[in-house]
Amino acid sequence: MFDLLKRAILPVTAALLAIIALANAWYWLALLLLGIVALGFYDWSQRGWSITRNFPVAGRIRWLFYKLRPYLHTYIVEDDLGGRPYSFEARNLIQSRARGETDTHPFGTERDVEAAEYHWVCHSIMPEKEPDQSPRVQVGNEQCAKPYSASILNISAMSFGALSANAVRALNIGAKQGGFYHDTGEGGLSDYHLEHGGDLVWELGSGYFGARDQQGRFDRNCSR
Ligand SMILES: Cc1cc2nc3c(=O)[nH]c(=O)nc-3n(C[C@H](O)[C@H](O)[C@H](O)COP(=O)(O)O)c2cc1C
Repeated sequence: MFDLLKRAILPVTAALLAIIALANAWYWLALLLLGIVALGFYDWSQRGWSITRNFPVAGRIRWLFYKLRPYLHTYIVEDDLGGRPYSFEARNLIQSRARGETDTHPFGTERDVEAAEYHWVCHSIMPEKEPDQSPRVQVGNEQCAKPYSASILNISAMSFGALSANAVRALNIGAKQGGFYHDTGEGGLSDYHLEHGGDLVWELGSGYFGARDQQGRFDRNCSR
């Protein structure tokens, strides 16, 4: 009952005001103008804000748009892929998944894949001549005791606990055969990582599987 009353208050008040206003249109207009004049007088006489002092009443429109700006920008100006840190597209995707709705769009990508800065890997429709050398990146310059020539595609970190001994072995064999590195992930460096001799990046974080001895010195055998 109380809820119904609460909901009815606004429309009933609005309807009553409309009736009164219609009946006394000139009276309400005069009251409104008086209000604007009073506000203008206040704006003109105050010394806190130069904009409203110079432009009484009209200067307040700026504040109105200042308040509305985030909404206008989000709903009207921003495109689907704009917006930081999350684009409209990303926000929509999260929302759809949270509601259990379909999160895929038919008819291909909405990204401008023809733009100059857009990079992608594409298969060749013609047989290509194999490059003499696979592209690699040098890690460490002449100041480094052991610089490393890294492949540009490698095996990203996957903790031992997320995989298994055999998965680690298989990944490391792949790294050995392909000439790329295998990141150990957070689970430490195990014997399985070392069995096949593929290049390894030892992830020392998160510290659960540390690499220090009892005295706090670096110890490469510590996590094994
Ligand atoms: C099963 C699994 C385990 C992972 N474990 C780790 C980890 O231990 N340490 C880490 O830094 N990243 C870990 N990651 C993150 C990956 O290294 C990588 O950053 C992530 O998968 C994104 O790269 P991608 O697009 O190549 O998959 C793990 C990912 C997966 C799928």
